[in-house]
Amino acid sequence: MKKRVFSGLRPTNLIHIGNYLGAIKGQIDLQNKPGFDCIYGVVDLHGITTPYKPKDLPNQIRNLALDLLAAGLDPQKCHLMIQSQVPEHLELAYLLGTIFPVSRLEDLPTYKDKKAENPGYLNMGLLYYPVLMAADIMLYKADTVPVGKDQVPHIEITREFARKFNLMFGKTFPEPQAYLMEGAYVPSLKGEGKMSKSIEGSYILLTDDLEMIRKRLAGAPTDTGKGTEVPQEGGVANLLTLVELFEGKDIRMKYESQYLHEGIRYQDLKHDLANAIYEEIKPIQEKRKFYEQNSNLVEEILEEGRDYCSIIAKETLREAKEKMGLV
Ligand code: TYM
Repeated sequence: MKKRVFSGLRPTNLIHIGNYLGAIKGQIDLQNKPGFDCIYGVVDLHGITTPYKPKDLPNQIRNLALDLLAAGLDPQKCHLMIQSQVPEHLELAYLLGTIFPVSRLEDLPTYKDKKAENPGYLNMGLLYYPVLMAADIMLYKADTVPVGKDQVPHIEITREFARKFNLMFGKTFPEPQAYLMEGAYVPSLKGEGKMSKSIEGSYILLTDDLEMIRKRLAGAPTDTGKGTEVPQEGGVANLLTLVELFEGKDIRMKYESQYLHEGIRYQDLKHDLANAIYEEIKPIQEKRKFYEQNSNLVEEILEEGRDYCSIIAKETLREAKEKMGLV
């Protein structure tokens, strides 16, 4: 039997190279492996937990579908769906919510971060975020979840949900594993923390042209270029991580040696890094144009995804309700 894969991205219009390396590359990797049945979602219900404009949302959802297809999700090898079109996600989330302590949700670092970021918009959806995410995964009985490192606590909590449900109502759900790629943690351009769509100046978008990439890299903090130890954190460390991810380990080692000897010229480093990043994302931008011009095809792909997912979702939900004594 094939292993089931589920993963999703929020439709924010700001898909960056962190999302690409951390999540989308893992999604592509798994769709290309035999033995995996992959479902990928535009998780719009998660998207509305932070401030947004309703009139822009339909476009954001569509843009993300285009970005994912352009980046390499292959409709012949995976199913692409929009979360809100399969309402069973919400129903399972509610059921799961009834078996879980609020205190555990309040303790999650992801919730605390969001609380700090949006003190004036602390809605129930934010607290419920990991419950809905667990439901996304469990609805398809997925055991493999390609995500970035920041999402590992959410996969851990999904495992807890599965364990608890199985214990209370009988074996129903597998305990999923996160599937992490080399780029599972893409650092911020600001020298601190991870690249994030909610932090302006931290990211490079998949839609950026070479000039924009150069401009964004120009803002990344550096130092004098020389020292007795290669920095392990901060602006320079982050730039070296990006060098390794886009240009390979050997080039990183070349710069590390320069740091200890003659010194790094950051202008050259940033110039070459910008070229390497653009090389990687240029084909995505070109492929995106194809899908932009073939909107019927995109509609068909999303309809197939919805229909495929609805069948599985209904089955799992019925089983869960039966076990809980609701059917
Ligand atoms: P979102 O849209 O915030 O992030 C999408 C994916 O991008 C990864 N990511 C990163 N990876 C490496 N380095 C970074 N700097 C970086 N920033 C973001 C995230 O880890 C994520 O994999 N909660 C999910 C959405 C979701 C989901 C799911 C995922 C909802 N339901 C079910 C998997 C399964 C999220 O963070 O979306």
